[in-house]
Amino acid sequence: MKVLAPLTVLGLLAFWVFSQPRPLTAADLPKHKGDAGNGELMFNAGGCRSCHKPGPDLAVAYASLPAGGAPLKTPIGILYPPNLTPDPDTGIGRWSDLDFVNALQRGLAPDGTHLIPAFPYTSYAAMRTKDILDIKAYLDTLKPVSAPPRDPGLPLAPLLRRGVGLWKWLGLDTAPWQPDPSRSGPWNRGSYLVNGPGHCAECHTPRNIFMVRDDGKALAGGLHPGGEGKVPSLRNMIGRGRYKDAADIASALRYGELAGYDKITSAGMGEVQTNLSKLPASDIAAIAEYLASLK
Ligand code: HEC
Ligand code: HEC
Repeated sequence: MKVLAPLTVLGLLAFWVFSQPRPLTAADLPKHKGDAGNGELMFNAGGCRSCHKPGPDLAVAYASLPAGGAPLKTPIGILYPPNLTPDPDTGIGRWSDLDFVNALQRGLAPDGTHLIPAFPYTSYAAMRTKDILDIKAYLDTLKPVSAPPRDPGLPLAPLLRRGVGLWKWLGLDTAPWQPDPSRSGPWNRGSYLVNGPGHCAECHTPRNIFMVRDDGKALAGGLHPGGEGKVPSLRNMIGRGRYKDAADIASALRYGELAGYDKITSAGMGEVQTNLSKLPASDIAAIAEYLASLK
C-alpha cells in the first residue's frame, strides 16, 4: 500500500500532463484571405457534409447544409457530428480562424477539449492551413441554421475525451503533407487530395490494436470504422483487373455505379463518390493518377 499510493498519484499526474491539449497559436496561422471558392472544393474533397448532414428533423428543410445531427456509427458508439453553419449560438458563427484550424489540425474544441477522432482530423492535420481557412470562408457564406448539438451521452465522457489526449501521442501525426519532387504535378495533387482532405486512409488503411492507422500499409485495405466489415485495398487496382487504367479509375470515381462500375457504393463509399464527383475533372484525374501508381 505504501508504494501504491505514490505510484497512483504519479500515474494520475502523468495522465494529466500527457493528456493536455496542445493547441496552435495565432503565430502559427499564415496571413491569408479566405477563398470561399477553393473552400467549397476542399469541403467536397473532405466529405464534410457526409458526416455533418442534418438529422431527420431538419433534413427536409436544410438537406444541403452541414447543420449536423445525423447519427454516425463509430467504434465507441453513435455520435452526432455538430452544426457547421455560421449560426452564432448552435453553429460555428462565433469561432475564430484559429479555433477552426485547431479543430481540423489538432482535434481540439475552442475550450481545449479533445475531439473524438471519429472526426478524421488525423488526416486533415496533413492539409495546408490555407485550404482549411478557405473551408471556413466557404462555411461563413452558408445560411445559418439553428440546430443545437446533440449530446451522444458517452459513458465517462470527460475522462474519455481526456484519454484522447494521450491517444494523440500515438495516433495524431501533425506533419503537413509533403510533395514528392520526383513525381508529376497531377500525381502530387492526387496524393494531397487522397492523404489530406480526402481522408481515404481512415477507411482504406488497416489499424493496429491501439486503433492507430498503420501507414506502413497505407491504403492496403482496412476495417470499416462504423463496423461494416472490410474495406478493399486501393493498391494494384489495375494489376488486379479492377480497372483498365487511370482513366477508368477516374470514370469510376466520377460516375460510380450509375456507369456500370461495381463495389463503389457500400458503407459510406457512395457518399464519398458523390462528393468526389463534384470536384473539377482535373482533380478527379489527379486522384486516379495517384491511385493507379500504388503497387
Ligand atoms: C467521418 C465523419 C466526419 C467527417 C468526414 C467530418 N467530420 Fe467534423 N466532426 C465529426 C464528429 C463525429 C465530430 C464531433 C467530435 C466530438 O464530439 O468530439 C466533428 C466535429 C467537427 C468540428 C468541431 C465542431 C464543434 O462544435 O465542436 C468541426 C469544426 C468539424 N467537425 C469540421 C469538419 C470539416 C470542416 C470537415 C470536412 C473537411 C469535417 N468536419 C468532416 C465527424 C466528421
Ligand atoms: C467511410 C469509409 C470510406 C472512405 C472515407 C473512403 N472509402 Fe473508398 N471504399 C469504402 C468501401 C466500404 C468500399 C467498398 C464499397 C463496395 O464494395 O460497394 C470502397 C471502395 C472504393 C473503391 C473501389 C475499390 C475496388 O476494388 O473496386 C475505390 C476506387 C475507392 N473506394 C476509392 C476511395 C477514395 C479515392 C477515397 C478518398 C477520397 C475513399 N475511397 C474513401 C469505404 C471508404
